[in-house]
Amino acid sequence: MVAKEAIPLLTPHRIGRFELSHRVVLAPLTRCRSYANVPQPHAAAYYSQRATKGGLLIAEATGVSATAQGYPETPGIWTQQQVDAWKPIVDAVHRKGALFFCQIWHVGRVSTNDFQPDGQAPISSTDKQITPDAESGMVYSKPRQLQTDEIPLIVDDFRRAARNAVEAGFDGVEIHGAHGYLLEQFMKDSSNDRTDEYGGSLENRCRFAVEVIDAIVHEIGADRVGIRLSPFVDYMDCFDSDPHALGMYMVQQLNKHQGFVYCHMVEPRMAIVDGRRQIPHGLLPFRKAFNGTFIAAGGYDREEGNKVVADGYADLVAYGRIFLANPDLPKRFELDSPLNKYDRNTFYTQDPVVPPFGSYLIGGGGFSCYNFYEHVVDERMCILDAGYNHIF
Ligand SMILES: Cc1cc2nc3c(=O)[nH]c(=O)nc-3n(C[C@H](O)[C@H](O)[C@H](O)COP(=O)(O)O)c2cc1C
Repeated sequence: MVAKEAIPLLTPHRIGRFELSHRVVLAPLTRCRSYANVPQPHAAAYYSQRATKGGLLIAEATGVSATAQGYPETPGIWTQQQVDAWKPIVDAVHRKGALFFCQIWHVGRVSTNDFQPDGQAPISSTDKQITPDAESGMVYSKPRQLQTDEIPLIVDDFRRAARNAVEAGFDGVEIHGAHGYLLEQFMKDSSNDRTDEYGGSLENRCRFAVEVIDAIVHEIGADRVGIRLSPFVDYMDCFDSDPHALGMYMVQQLNKHQGFVYCHMVEPRMAIVDGRRQIPHGLLPFRKAFNGTFIAAGGYDREEGNKVVADGYADLVAYGRIFLANPDLPKRFELDSPLNKYDRNTFYTQDPVVPPFGSYLIGGGGFSCYNFYEHVVDERMCILDAGYNHIF
Protein backbone atom coordinates (compact mmCIF):
# COMPACT_ATOMS: atom_id res chain seq x y z
CA MET A 1 0.00 0.00 0.00
CA VAL A 2 1.26 3.46 -0.84
CA ALA A 3 1.08 5.82 2.15
CA LYS A 4 -1.25 8.76 1.48
CA GLU A 5 0.67 12.00 1.15
CA ALA A 6 -0.56 14.77 3.47
CA ILE A 7 -2.16 17.60 1.52
CA PRO A 8 -0.86 20.85 3.07
CA LEU A 9 -4.22 22.63 2.68
CA LEU A 10 -5.92 19.83 4.56
CA THR A 11 -3.75 19.86 7.66
CA PRO A 12 -5.03 21.31 10.95
CA HIS A 13 -4.21 24.79 12.15
CA ARG A 14 -4.80 26.54 15.45
CA ILE A 15 -6.26 30.02 14.94
CA GLY A 16 -6.41 31.91 18.21
CA ARG A 17 -8.57 29.82 20.50
CA PHE A 18 -10.09 27.88 17.61
CA GLU A 19 -8.90 24.61 16.11
CA LEU A 20 -9.29 24.32 12.35
CA SER A 21 -9.20 20.92 10.67
CA HIS A 22 -8.12 22.38 7.31
CA ARG A 23 -6.91 25.62 5.74
CA VAL A 24 -9.41 26.21 2.94
CA VAL A 25 -11.28 29.38 3.88
CA LEU A 26 -14.43 30.76 2.25
CA ALA A 27 -13.54 34.33 1.20
CA PRO A 28 -16.14 37.03 1.82
CA LEU A 29 -18.47 37.17 -1.20
CA THR A 30 -21.17 39.77 -1.69
CA ARG A 31 -24.21 38.16 -3.30
CA CYS A 32 -26.76 41.03 -3.21
CA ARG A 33 -29.61 38.83 -1.97
CA SER A 34 -30.35 40.35 1.43
CA TYR A 35 -33.51 42.25 0.63
CA ALA A 36 -33.87 45.62 2.33
CA ASN A 37 -30.49 44.88 3.95
CA VAL A 38 -31.90 41.94 5.92
CA PRO A 39 -30.19 38.55 5.51
CA GLN A 40 -32.61 35.96 4.11
CA PRO A 41 -33.30 32.31 5.03
CA HIS A 42 -31.75 31.11 1.75
CA ALA A 43 -28.37 32.28 3.07
CA ALA A 44 -28.53 29.48 5.66
CA ALA A 45 -28.48 26.94 2.84
CA TYR A 46 -25.83 28.84 0.90
CA TYR A 47 -23.40 29.13 3.82
CA SER A 48 -24.03 25.74 5.41
CA GLN A 49 -23.32 24.05 2.07
CA ARG A 50 -19.86 25.56 2.22
CA ALA A 51 -19.36 24.70 5.89
CA THR A 52 -17.26 21.75 7.04
CA LYS A 53 -16.27 20.53 10.44
CA GLY A 54 -13.32 22.65 11.48
CA GLY A 55 -13.52 24.96 8.45
CA LEU A 56 -13.56 28.77 8.49
CA LEU A 57 -16.16 30.80 6.60
CA ILE A 58 -16.14 34.57 6.24
CA ALA A 59 -19.54 36.09 5.58
CA GLU A 60 -20.12 38.60 2.81
CA ALA A 61 -19.48 42.28 3.53
CA THR A 62 -22.14 43.43 6.00
CA GLY A 63 -23.00 47.08 6.59
CA VAL A 64 -22.37 48.72 9.95
CA SER A 65 -24.94 51.50 9.53
CA ALA A 66 -27.55 53.03 7.24
CA THR A 67 -24.87 55.09 5.47
CA ALA A 68 -22.66 52.04 4.84
CA GLN A 69 -24.47 50.76 1.74
CA GLY A 70 -23.44 51.10 -1.90
CA TYR A 71 -24.77 47.98 -3.64
CA PRO A 72 -28.28 46.58 -3.98
CA GLU A 73 -29.62 44.22 -1.32
CA THR A 74 -26.48 43.78 0.76
CA PRO A 75 -26.91 42.67 4.38
CA GLY A 76 -26.50 44.84 7.44
CA ILE A 77 -25.92 44.26 11.12
CA TRP A 78 -26.98 47.53 12.72
CA THR A 79 -30.63 46.76 13.54
CA GLN A 80 -32.15 44.14 15.84
CA GLN A 81 -34.08 42.75 12.88
CA GLN A 82 -30.83 42.15 11.00
CA VAL A 83 -29.18 40.57 14.05
CA ASP A 84 -32.15 38.24 14.49
CA ALA A 85 -32.11 37.35 10.80
CA TRP A 86 -28.43 36.37 10.99
CA LYS A 87 -29.00 34.00 13.94
CA PRO A 88 -30.47 31.00 12.05
CA ILE A 89 -27.84 31.43 9.33
CA VAL A 90 -25.02 31.34 11.87
CA ASP A 91 -26.69 28.38 13.62
CA ALA A 92 -26.83 26.45 10.35
CA VAL A 93 -23.09 26.96 9.85
CA HIS A 94 -22.31 26.01 13.44
CA ARG A 95 -24.36 22.84 13.15
CA LYS A 96 -21.90 21.75 10.46
CA GLY A 97 -19.04 22.41 12.88
CA ALA A 98 -17.50 25.40 11.07
CA LEU A 99 -16.33 28.75 12.41
CA PHE A 100 -18.08 31.81 11.03
CA PHE A 101 -16.68 35.35 10.99
CA CYS A 102 -18.75 38.31 9.82
CA GLN A 103 -17.05 40.80 7.51
CA ILE A 104 -18.16 44.26 8.63
CA TRP A 105 -17.85 47.20 6.24
CA HIS A 106 -18.66 50.72 5.30
CA VAL A 107 -18.45 51.52 1.58
CA GLY A 108 -17.75 55.23 2.08
CA ARG A 109 -17.77 56.95 -1.31
CA VAL A 110 -18.36 53.70 -3.27
CA SER A 111 -22.04 54.60 -3.23
CA THR A 112 -24.64 56.89 -4.70
CA ASN A 113 -27.14 59.25 -3.12
CA ASP A 114 -29.84 56.66 -3.90
CA PHE A 115 -28.36 54.28 -1.32
CA GLN A 116 -28.08 56.95 1.36
CA PRO A 117 -30.66 57.95 3.97
CA ASP A 118 -32.68 60.93 2.69
CA GLY A 119 -30.66 60.89 -0.55
CA GLN A 120 -27.67 62.53 1.13
CA ALA A 121 -24.13 62.43 -0.25
CA PRO A 122 -22.10 59.34 0.66
CA ILE A 123 -19.48 60.01 3.34
CA SER A 124 -15.74 59.63 2.87
CA SER A 125 -12.27 60.79 3.85
CA THR A 126 -12.50 63.18 0.94
CA ASP A 127 -14.97 65.00 -1.24
CA LYS A 128 -13.18 63.70 -4.35
CA GLN A 129 -15.51 61.60 -6.48
CA ILE A 130 -14.44 58.24 -7.93
CA THR A 131 -13.66 58.70 -11.64
CA PRO A 132 -16.75 57.57 -13.57
CA ASP A 133 -16.14 54.30 -15.37
CA ALA A 134 -16.62 54.89 -19.09
CA GLU A 135 -16.83 51.16 -19.87
CA SER A 136 -19.55 50.20 -17.40
CA GLY A 137 -21.17 53.64 -17.23
CA MET A 138 -21.05 53.44 -13.42
CA VAL A 139 -21.02 56.84 -11.74
CA TYR A 140 -20.62 57.01 -7.96
CA SER A 141 -21.95 60.18 -6.37
CA LYS A 142 -19.76 62.99 -5.17
CA PRO A 143 -19.00 62.22 -1.52
CA ARG A 144 -18.96 64.52 1.46
CA GLN A 145 -15.75 64.69 3.47
CA LEU A 146 -16.41 63.68 7.08
CA GLN A 147 -15.76 66.40 9.62
CA THR A 148 -13.21 65.52 12.26
CA ASP A 149 -15.78 65.37 15.05
CA GLU A 150 -17.99 62.97 13.05
CA ILE A 151 -15.30 60.29 12.82
CA PRO A 152 -15.79 58.91 16.36
CA LEU A 153 -19.45 58.29 15.46
CA ILE A 154 -18.42 56.02 12.57
CA VAL A 155 -15.89 54.25 14.80
CA ASP A 156 -18.77 53.66 17.17
CA ASP A 157 -20.90 52.19 14.37
CA PHE A 158 -18.14 49.63 13.77
CA ARG A 159 -17.92 48.88 17.48
CA ARG A 160 -21.68 48.33 17.73
CA ALA A 161 -21.72 46.16 14.60
CA ALA A 162 -19.04 43.94 16.13
CA ARG A 163 -21.06 43.60 19.32
CA ASN A 164 -24.14 42.76 17.22
CA ALA A 165 -22.19 40.13 15.29
CA VAL A 166 -21.32 38.41 18.55
CA GLU A 167 -24.95 38.63 19.62
CA ALA A 168 -25.96 37.00 16.33
CA GLY A 169 -23.65 34.12 17.22
CA PHE A 170 -20.69 34.81 14.93
CA ASP A 171 -17.33 33.59 16.27
CA GLY A 172 -15.78 36.91 15.38
CA VAL A 173 -15.60 39.75 12.90
CA GLU A 174 -13.37 40.55 9.96
CA ILE A 175 -12.93 44.31 9.62
CA HIS A 176 -13.14 45.19 5.92
CA GLY A 177 -10.06 47.33 5.47
CA ALA A 178 -9.59 46.49 1.78
CA HIS A 179 -10.70 47.19 -1.81
CA GLY A 180 -11.17 50.95 -1.73
CA TYR A 181 -13.96 51.12 0.86
CA LEU A 182 -14.15 53.60 3.73
CA LEU A 183 -11.20 52.41 5.81
CA GLU A 184 -8.96 52.34 2.75
CA GLN A 185 -10.20 55.73 1.59
CA PHE A 186 -8.59 57.07 4.75
CA MET A 187 -5.49 54.85 4.60
CA LYS A 188 -4.33 55.48 1.03
CA ASP A 189 -2.84 58.73 -0.13
CA SER A 190 -4.71 58.80 -3.47
CA SER A 191 -8.00 59.27 -1.63
CA ASN A 192 -7.04 61.08 1.55
CA ASP A 193 -6.52 64.81 1.11
CA ARG A 194 -7.35 65.75 4.68
CA THR A 195 -5.48 68.35 6.67
CA ASP A 196 -6.63 67.26 10.15
CA GLU A 197 -5.11 64.49 12.32
CA TYR A 198 -6.69 61.89 9.99
CA GLY A 199 -4.72 63.02 6.93
CA GLY A 200 -1.16 63.68 5.80
CA SER A 201 1.35 61.32 7.40
CA LEU A 202 1.01 57.54 7.21
CA GLU A 203 0.22 57.44 10.91
CA ASN A 204 -2.51 60.04 10.47
CA ARG A 205 -4.05 58.30 7.46
CA CYS A 206 -4.19 55.00 9.34
CA ARG A 207 -5.61 56.63 12.48
CA PHE A 208 -9.25 55.97 11.59
CA ALA A 209 -8.61 52.26 10.83
CA VAL A 210 -6.55 51.92 14.01
CA GLU A 211 -9.34 53.52 16.06
CA VAL A 212 -11.83 51.08 14.56
CA ILE A 213 -9.55 48.14 15.38
CA ASP A 214 -8.93 49.36 18.93
CA ALA A 215 -12.62 49.99 19.59
CA ILE A 216 -13.64 46.55 18.35
CA VAL A 217 -10.86 44.76 20.24
CA HIS A 218 -11.94 46.61 23.37
CA GLU A 219 -15.58 45.68 22.76
CA ILE A 220 -15.36 41.96 21.91
CA GLY A 221 -11.74 40.96 22.65
CA ALA A 222 -8.77 40.54 20.28
CA ASP A 223 -9.44 36.80 20.12
CA ARG A 224 -12.56 37.51 18.04
CA VAL A 225 -11.10 40.02 15.59
CA GLY A 226 -9.47 39.69 12.18
CA ILE A 227 -8.95 42.20 9.38
CA ARG A 228 -8.76 42.21 5.60
CA LEU A 229 -6.24 44.53 3.97
CA SER A 230 -5.20 45.10 0.36
CA PRO A 231 -2.28 47.54 0.34
CA PHE A 232 -1.34 46.74 -3.27
CA VAL A 233 -4.80 46.75 -4.80
CA ASP A 234 -5.92 49.92 -6.65
CA TYR A 235 -9.65 49.29 -6.82
CA MET A 236 -12.05 52.28 -6.80
CA ASP A 237 -9.33 54.91 -7.30
CA CYS A 238 -7.72 53.87 -4.03
CA PHE A 239 -3.98 53.38 -4.26
CA ASP A 240 -0.98 54.31 -2.20
CA SER A 241 2.41 55.67 -3.20
CA ASP A 242 4.08 53.29 -0.72
CA PRO A 243 1.93 50.18 -0.24
CA HIS A 244 4.75 48.32 1.46
CA ALA A 245 5.08 50.94 4.22
CA LEU A 246 1.29 51.07 4.58
CA GLY A 247 0.98 47.29 4.98
CA MET A 248 3.86 47.14 7.46
CA TYR A 249 2.48 49.98 9.55
CA MET A 250 -0.91 48.27 9.78
CA VAL A 251 0.62 44.91 10.71
CA GLN A 252 2.55 46.65 13.51
CA GLN A 253 -0.73 48.08 14.82
CA LEU A 254 -2.33 44.62 14.79
CA ASN A 255 0.62 43.15 16.66
CA LYS A 256 -0.06 45.55 19.53
CA HIS A 257 -3.13 43.46 20.32
CA GLN A 258 -2.06 40.18 21.85
CA GLY A 259 -4.12 37.37 20.33
CA PHE A 260 -5.46 39.37 17.37
CA VAL A 261 -6.86 36.45 15.39
CA TYR A 262 -5.85 36.97 11.80
CA CYS A 263 -4.55 39.24 9.11
CA HIS A 264 -6.16 38.48 5.74
CA MET A 265 -4.40 40.05 2.78
CA VAL A 266 -5.27 40.22 -0.87
CA GLU A 267 -2.49 39.62 -3.39
CA PRO A 268 -1.37 42.37 -5.78
CA ARG A 269 -2.93 42.24 -9.20
CA MET A 270 -2.06 39.07 -11.08
CA ALA A 271 0.50 39.23 -13.85
CA ILE A 272 0.70 37.22 -17.05
CA VAL A 273 4.06 35.43 -17.17
CA ASP A 274 4.85 33.12 -20.09
CA GLY A 275 1.21 33.31 -21.14
CA ARG A 276 -0.03 32.10 -17.75
CA ARG A 277 -1.64 34.10 -14.95
CA GLN A 278 0.72 34.19 -12.02
CA ILE A 279 0.02 35.13 -8.44
CA PRO A 280 2.61 37.74 -7.49
CA HIS A 281 3.15 36.33 -3.98
CA GLY A 282 3.86 39.83 -2.76
CA LEU A 283 2.72 39.40 0.82
CA LEU A 284 5.73 37.68 2.38
CA PRO A 285 7.08 40.69 4.32
CA PHE A 286 3.70 41.14 5.99
CA ARG A 287 3.38 37.44 6.71
CA LYS A 288 6.79 37.50 8.36
CA ALA A 289 5.98 40.58 10.43
CA PHE A 290 2.54 39.52 11.65
CA ASN A 291 2.31 37.57 14.92
CA GLY A 292 -1.01 35.78 14.32
CA THR A 293 -2.60 33.64 11.61
CA PHE A 294 -1.96 34.94 8.10
CA ILE A 295 -4.53 34.39 5.34
CA ALA A 296 -3.66 34.97 1.68
CA ALA A 297 -6.29 35.45 -1.05
CA GLY A 298 -6.56 36.24 -4.72
CA GLY A 299 -6.34 33.81 -7.62
CA TYR A 300 -5.43 30.68 -5.71
CA ASP A 301 -6.17 27.15 -6.88
CA ARG A 302 -5.36 23.81 -5.26
CA GLU A 303 -1.78 23.69 -6.46
CA GLU A 304 -0.86 27.26 -5.49
CA GLY A 305 -2.68 26.96 -2.17
CA ASN A 306 -0.79 23.81 -1.23
CA LYS A 307 2.45 25.43 -2.29
CA VAL A 308 2.05 28.55 -0.16
CA VAL A 309 0.99 26.56 2.90
CA ALA A 310 3.90 24.13 2.47
CA ASP A 311 6.33 27.05 2.02
CA GLY A 312 5.05 28.84 5.12
CA TYR A 313 3.99 31.83 3.01
CA ALA A 314 0.46 31.67 4.46
CA ASP A 315 -1.27 29.74 7.22
CA LEU A 316 -4.62 29.71 5.45
CA VAL A 317 -5.81 30.41 1.92
CA ALA A 318 -9.13 32.10 1.19
CA TYR A 319 -10.95 31.06 -1.96
CA GLY A 320 -13.62 33.23 -3.59
CA ARG A 321 -14.91 32.35 -7.03
CA ILE A 322 -14.08 28.66 -7.04
CA PHE A 323 -15.58 28.16 -3.58
CA LEU A 324 -18.72 29.86 -4.86
CA ALA A 325 -19.03 27.38 -7.73
CA ASN A 326 -17.83 24.38 -5.69
CA PRO A 327 -19.55 24.31 -2.30
CA ASP A 328 -17.61 21.16 -1.34
CA LEU A 329 -14.23 22.67 -2.25
CA PRO A 330 -12.22 21.08 0.62
CA LYS A 331 -13.52 17.64 -0.38
CA ARG A 332 -12.66 18.26 -3.99
CA PHE A 333 -9.16 19.30 -2.99
CA GLU A 334 -8.86 16.11 -0.98
CA LEU A 335 -9.90 13.99 -3.95
CA ASP A 336 -8.18 16.23 -6.48
CA SER A 337 -11.44 16.10 -8.42
CA PRO A 338 -12.35 18.49 -11.23
CA LEU A 339 -13.91 21.84 -10.37
CA ASN A 340 -17.10 23.41 -11.66
CA LYS A 341 -16.48 26.61 -13.55
CA TYR A 342 -17.86 29.70 -11.92
CA ASP A 343 -20.53 31.68 -13.69
CA ARG A 344 -19.94 35.42 -13.56
CA ASN A 345 -23.54 36.07 -14.66
CA THR A 346 -24.92 34.86 -11.33
CA PHE A 347 -22.36 36.44 -8.98
CA TYR A 348 -24.63 39.31 -8.01
CA THR A 349 -28.09 38.28 -9.21
CA GLN A 350 -30.63 39.36 -6.62
CA ASP A 351 -32.99 36.49 -7.25
CA PRO A 352 -31.56 33.29 -5.80
CA VAL A 353 -33.73 31.27 -8.19
CA VAL A 354 -32.46 30.75 -11.71
CA PRO A 355 -33.97 28.55 -14.41
CA PRO A 356 -32.48 25.07 -14.31
CA PHE A 357 -30.02 24.18 -17.04
CA GLY A 358 -31.00 21.19 -19.20
CA SER A 359 -28.28 18.97 -17.84
CA TYR A 360 -29.32 19.77 -14.30
CA LEU A 361 -32.57 17.93 -14.83
CA ILE A 362 -30.96 14.70 -15.97
CA GLY A 363 -30.75 12.47 -12.95
CA GLY A 364 -31.32 15.48 -10.79
CA GLY A 365 -34.74 14.45 -9.49
CA GLY A 366 -35.59 16.02 -6.20
CA PHE A 367 -33.08 18.79 -6.57
CA SER A 368 -34.21 22.35 -6.41
CA CYS A 369 -33.03 24.71 -9.11
CA TYR A 370 -32.09 27.37 -6.59
CA ASN A 371 -29.08 29.31 -7.58
CA PHE A 372 -27.74 29.15 -4.05
CA TYR A 373 -27.09 25.47 -4.71
CA GLU A 374 -24.67 26.77 -7.34
CA HIS A 375 -24.07 23.93 -9.79
CA VAL A 376 -25.26 21.32 -7.35
CA VAL A 377 -26.12 18.54 -9.78
CA ASP A 378 -23.04 19.14 -11.79
CA GLU A 379 -21.16 18.86 -8.56
CA ARG A 380 -22.84 15.57 -7.64
CA MET A 381 -21.76 14.11 -10.95
CA CYS A 382 -18.17 15.15 -10.42
CA ILE A 383 -18.12 13.71 -6.93
CA LEU A 384 -19.51 10.40 -8.14
CA ASP A 385 -16.99 10.40 -10.95
CA ALA A 386 -14.30 10.68 -8.35
CA GLY A 387 -15.70 7.68 -6.52
CA TYR A 388 -16.99 9.65 -3.58
CA ASN A 389 -20.35 8.34 -2.61
CA HIS A 390 -21.86 10.96 -0.40
CA ILE A 391 -24.42 13.43 -1.60
CA PHE A 392 -25.18 16.18 0.88
C1 LIG B 1 -19.02 37.76 -6.32
C2 LIG B 1 -17.91 38.33 -5.51
C3 LIG B 1 -18.20 39.04 -4.36
C4 LIG B 1 -17.16 39.55 -3.56
N1 LIG B 1 -17.48 40.18 -2.40
C5 LIG B 1 -16.50 40.55 -1.54
C6 LIG B 1 -16.83 41.06 -0.26
O1 LIG B 1 -17.98 41.16 0.13
N2 LIG B 1 -15.79 41.42 0.54
C7 LIG B 1 -14.47 41.30 0.15
O2 LIG B 1 -13.57 41.63 0.92
N3 LIG B 1 -14.16 40.79 -1.05
C8 LIG B 1 -15.13 40.39 -1.88
N4 LIG B 1 -14.79 39.80 -3.08
C9 LIG B 1 -13.40 39.44 -3.35
C10 LIG B 1 -13.15 38.00 -2.91
O3 LIG B 1 -13.27 37.85 -1.51
C11 LIG B 1 -11.75 37.50 -3.34
O4 LIG B 1 -10.75 38.26 -2.70
C12 LIG B 1 -11.58 37.56 -4.83
O5 LIG B 1 -12.65 36.90 -5.49
C13 LIG B 1 -10.26 36.93 -5.28
O6 LIG B 1 -10.19 35.59 -4.85
P1 LIG B 1 -10.47 34.37 -5.87
O7 LIG B 1 -9.44 34.49 -6.96
O8 LIG B 1 -10.26 33.13 -5.02
O9 LIG B 1 -11.87 34.51 -6.38
C14 LIG B 1 -15.81 39.35 -3.93
C15 LIG B 1 -15.52 38.66 -5.11
C16 LIG B 1 -16.55 38.16 -5.91
C17 LIG B 1 -16.19 37.38 -7.14
